[in-house]
Amino acid sequence: MTVRTESSQPQSKQLTQGSSKVPIHVAIIMDGNGRWAQKRGLPRLAGHRMGVDCIHGVLDTLGQKGVKYVTLYAFSTENWNRPPDEVEGILELMLEALQEQTQTLHENNVQILHIGKADRLSPQLEQAVNHAQELTCGNTGVTLNFAFDYGGRDEILEAVKQVIRDQVPAEDIDEAMFSKYLFTAHCPDPDLIIRTGGELRISNFLLWQSAYSEYYHTSTLWPDLDSAELERVLEAFSNRQRRFGRVTPEA
Ligand code: IPE
Ligand code: IPE
Ligand code: MG
Repeated sequence: MTVRTESSQPQSKQLTQGSSKVPIHVAIIMDGNGRWAQKRGLPRLAGHRMGVDCIHGVLDTLGQKGVKYVTLYAFSTENWNRPPDEVEGILELMLEALQEQTQTLHENNVQILHIGKADRLSPQLEQAVNHAQELTCGNTGVTLNFAFDYGGRDEILEAVKQVIRDQVPAEDIDEAMFSKYLFTAHCPDPDLIIRTGGELRISNFLLWQSAYSEYYHTSTLWPDLDSAELERVLEAFSNRQRRFGRVTPEA
């Protein structure tokens, strides 16, 4: 289930559509499900359910705008510390979502890839993930990186261990080479990271890959993020000046 390829990484440069710059890779910290439910007097799990339901619309909007890779942070390595009932409920929802939505995503030419630890998934979830990956592996539309049991520190440590196992000489280790040991070896670094739910932190998400990502925070709770707001986010991205350490913006 890990996604480590030897292919070279596509350039992390945004596309231009009309006069707008479109991010190639958008990564989203989908936060705020619990508060969305609590505001309505519902159990937290109702918020997670709504959070899963709105993924489809977000993917559609991003795909239509020309985004090629979408990474969704669905469950972190730290989320196991939640109450067992909530964890259990989220795992069930993930299984249900994969079983119900894989076919539609496949028909929409979406390629589904799991990023994160693969060794703590239940056999059923592992099977559903493998099925989704195998079914959609030839698709050429949006690539959906589904970050589940994902932690940036864990990813980096696992990559370091693998580099050591492969006995790579120290002088051969550089940034491009190391990136190929990460779960995201198949895609460019995220151009844009969106966090819903109002928190101003990274919560162990894409620590290596986000070195030069643009950040966008919104207090909107994940289940409330609609296509109008998403379009405003893309518009804001399009007006950012990315300098990558230079004095003048990237051409
Ligand atoms: C994000 O929503 C989903 C997961 C982390 C699984 P939260 O469940 O963190 O929602 P809030 O932050 O409590 O509102
Ligand atoms: C981040 O949200 C993880 C996901 C969205 C999957 P959390 O709600 O777990 O983040 P913290 O705990 O507030 O940092
Ligand atoms: Mg949260």
